[in-house]
Amino acid sequence: MLFWKSNGNNTPLKTAQDLNPNIPRHIAIIMDGNGRWAKKRGLPRTAGHRAGVKSLKSIVKLCSKLKVEVLTVYAFSTENWKRPQEEVEVLMNLLTEYISSELEALSENNVRVRTIGEIERLPLEAQKSIIKAKAKTTENTGMIFNIALNYGGRNEILKAVQEIAQDAIDQKLKVEEIEKEVLENYLYTKGLPDPDLLIRPSGEQRISNYLLWQLAYTEFWFTDTLWPDFDESELIKAIEAYQKRERRFGGLKI
Ligand code: FPP
Repeated sequence: MLFWKSNGNNTPLKTAQDLNPNIPRHIAIIMDGNGRWAKKRGLPRTAGHRAGVKSLKSIVKLCSKLKVEVLTVYAFSTENWKRPQEEVEVLMNLLTEYISSELEALSENNVRVRTIGEIERLPLEAQKSIIKAKAKTTENTGMIFNIALNYGGRNEILKAVQEIAQDAIDQKLKVEEIEKEVLENYLYTKGLPDPDLLIRPSGEQRISNYLLWQLAYTEFWFTDTLWPDFDESELIKAIEAYQKRERRFGGLKI
């Protein structure tokens, strides 16, 4: 399967076989740089978010074709409520628009939609479209497209601790039984493998309260490219860099 055309500089064409095996099972992305992309063009920040949705569409498609098992994207953090109300509204509308325009294609491509974060705090329209997307794709067995919405890693861990404490009080759980795997069952990412690769565009090199527990042994890849300019070739670069890494998980080289 061919993913993109030669750029005319004798760059070899990449195929699924070139990149497989060792495709990351789970890729997590912080879609950063929309605002700066817009500012550079004298456009409102919201135009950057619109352009960011285009990148998202192409990256979802490529990940699904490459047989990535899980793609998690940071669409809205627990801290993003601090942004001007107009920007928050545009982001929520974009989410609803994105789902209504892409749901059919996602479903046809066997993609399953999941979310992480407290979606109950999102505007009703956004909640409805998420519920619809999850229901329509629940039987799908292909890539899990996991959207982080009103998500914060610290809140996620805190929520898990509270629920565990309550279950211990209710004698559903013994304190000595609380192991790593038990805690993981209380996280939004229950049942998902940890990310193998974290991608953050836009030159920032921090994790911004994203997947704090899950990123323990993830490989990080940063690029100065702003998210709206992040295209398929950037994703391939990130995957190729990942494939050259030696992962030891705290152990020694075998
Ligand atoms: C960070 O860029 C980006 C966000 C806070 C939102 C990401 C959202 C999208 C790409 C589109 C909407 C999502 C969906 C699922 C439809 P920034 O605004 O912080 O950029 P800056 O650092 O350059 O200001």
